[in-house]
Amino acid sequence: MEKLLRLDKYLSDMDIGSRSQVRTWIRKGRVNINSISCKKPDQKVRVNKDEVSFDGQIIIYEEFLYYMLNKPAGLVSATTDNRDKTVIDIIESTKSKELFPVGRLDKDTEGLLIISNDGELAHKLLSPKNKVDKVYYAKVNGRVTNEDVEAFLSGISIGEPKPCLPAKLEVLSSDDISQVYLTIQEGKFHQVKRMFKAVGKEVIYLKRVSMAGLDLDPLLKPGDYRRLTEDELEHLKKVTLQKKE
Ligand code: URA
Repeated sequence: MEKLLRLDKYLSDMDIGSRSQVRTWIRKGRVNINSISCKKPDQKVRVNKDEVSFDGQIIIYEEFLYYMLNKPAGLVSATTDNRDKTVIDIIESTKSKELFPVGRLDKDTEGLLIISNDGELAHKLLSPKNKVDKVYYAKVNGRVTNEDVEAFLSGISIGEPKPCLPAKLEVLSSDDISQVYLTIQEGKFHQVKRMFKAVGKEVIYLKRVSMAGLDLDPLLKPGDYRRLTEDELEHLKKVTLQKKE
């Protein structure tokens, strides 16, 4: 079905400016529809049919937004929270009311979090059936041993009816404090912390470095975010397409 949108909403949805800013700019003649100047903010645009340009630059309408956030410790992975600041609170977007975090990281966990308004892709990425890889870097109190590697690989029990799925533990250093990469394909509550607790160790720092083969951009400092590139989005869609759901 053809989607119609007011011109001012079309432009503000695409983060060109606030609704009142874009109205002013439209009235000033900075906007064309199909190469013809349009000064009416309430003009209806046929999304993906009409060509809208602002100061000569074509503005493609994207219904879905995808961000990569390097979550800092201290933010809650939720859309709203009565007490704490959420990961959505820091995203500046005119569509921020629609955005949600794709999965959860604990308040003290850092790293890669995808933020979007695309429920279908989120569902595919999060469905346990789809076994999407999530890679964590962790600092752990105590020496991580080969027995731990084998225990994780054979499916460790964390007090739930079923043991965890096999998980790949790569030991980077093993000492009083050890450093590891852990790849899991589930997202149980506090899963990484509970897996280490099950082998008598405590996670003292946790950061997600990759999800579904998408690596955290090293240029993003904690609290920074950016839109996913087209290639990254293509990659996520391809990965989830190959999965069962
Ligand atoms: N596992 C945890 O224990 N915490 C997280 O934030 C993510 C995975």
